[in-house]
Amino acid sequence: MTLASPRIINIADLRAAARARLPNVVFDYLDGAAEKETTLRDNEAAFDEVFFRPRLALKIPKVDLSTRVLGVDVALPLLLAPIGLSRMMHPRGELAAAAGAARAGTGYILSTVSGYPLEAVIGENQNSFFQLYLMGGREVSERTIARAKKAGYKGLFVTIDTPVAGLREKDFRNGMAALMGRNPLPKLKYLPEILSHPRWLAGFLMDGGMPSMPNAVGDSGPLRTTDVSTALESAAVCWDDLGWIRQAWGGPIVIKGIHAADDARRAVDEGCAGVVVSNHGGRQLDGVAGSLRVLPSVVAAVGGQCEVLCDGGIRRGADIAKALALGAKAVLIGRAYAYGMAAVGDAGVDRALEILKSDLVRTLKLLGCDSVRKLDRSNVSLRPGFAVD
Ligand SMILES: Cc1cc2nc3c(=O)[nH]c(=O)nc-3n(C[C@H](O)[C@H](O)[C@H](O)COP(=O)(O)O)c2cc1C
Repeated sequence: MTLASPRIINIADLRAAARARLPNVVFDYLDGAAEKETTLRDNEAAFDEVFFRPRLALKIPKVDLSTRVLGVDVALPLLLAPIGLSRMMHPRGELAAAAGAARAGTGYILSTVSGYPLEAVIGENQNSFFQLYLMGGREVSERTIARAKKAGYKGLFVTIDTPVAGLREKDFRNGMAALMGRNPLPKLKYLPEILSHPRWLAGFLMDGGMPSMPNAVGDSGPLRTTDVSTALESAAVCWDDLGWIRQAWGGPIVIKGIHAADDARRAVDEGCAGVVVSNHGGRQLDGVAGSLRVLPSVVAAVGGQCEVLCDGGIRRGADIAKALALGAKAVLIGRAYAYGMAAVGDAGVDRALEILKSDLVRTLKLLGCDSVRKLDRSNVSLRPGFAVD
């Protein structure tokens, strides 16, 4: 399947292309979520409970998709979310994502759990942000923060929803731990499945196999991907950590993983520039409500004192318009671009962003609104009982 194919018209088509290229173990790592995947489903389902209220017979020759997020002018009201282990999905991984975002005129958020050095990634996109996990502890993180600051990253996203790794049951069944491990023997069981995806396998082997993590470097070198879960558990971020993080970073900080209005207010009190209403794409605590349902209460709680971003379940431009109408300054997209990246690298990221962009232009014209900055609560109505606090 090529991306020029008329069959690639939406993000679900890119998902199908990723499924065809990747072995199950890698596809499910990207696509799956925690436990019963209730939250994964609700992230998407919540958008179906928000209805547009178009104003028609207006002249709208063109629409303006540009906005300003965290001090950066962007051509689209979205940033590309941090996706750990992107380089395992495609050899260009984080480089493809950063470069695709740059071509579309927007920013990329690089995960700590990434396979390319942060200095190389910002070379692809000057409007890059860094997402921090305290992997390896404070000293390791201080070194990473210093590197990100020196390299010119525009902001630090501190993810707070990972005190432990969520239970992603598909990863266990598929042997994800075996794939990441150094011991070849446990991998044998999964070999037939991996061998039946020769294009992915060739790219993976030519790229040197499982990448290490050059953005979490301890005294004995980069942390290994096998250590991710253990490293996360020993390094859960707390509000108390924000003091030293703020001092080490000295720039805008955004808290990613907000579910509650109280935590959003706490972020404002801590001087944060923004919050991301996010449940990690349903990969952490299963059973929390879809992000869009929480968004209105967070927007009300911060009262304009910091920027509110939102992610989870965004698969169409219409979803972006709905999140903006409910008060998000911009959204983060995760799987939507990662499916394209995993399927074909740079061209797949480009295609994902083209699809979302043309969706958004069409949606705004049909809605009778000429700028994403003008979207507000008057553009939508909510099914009764939609929002949660
Ligand atoms: C495969 C995968 C890896 C992820 N890795 C990270 C990560 O390293 N750091 C982080 O803060 N969020 C991570 N996330 C969460 C995303 O940043 C984002 O919150 C989520 O994907 C949004 O939901 P969506 O995929 O439905 O758009 C990951 C998500 C996926 C799907």
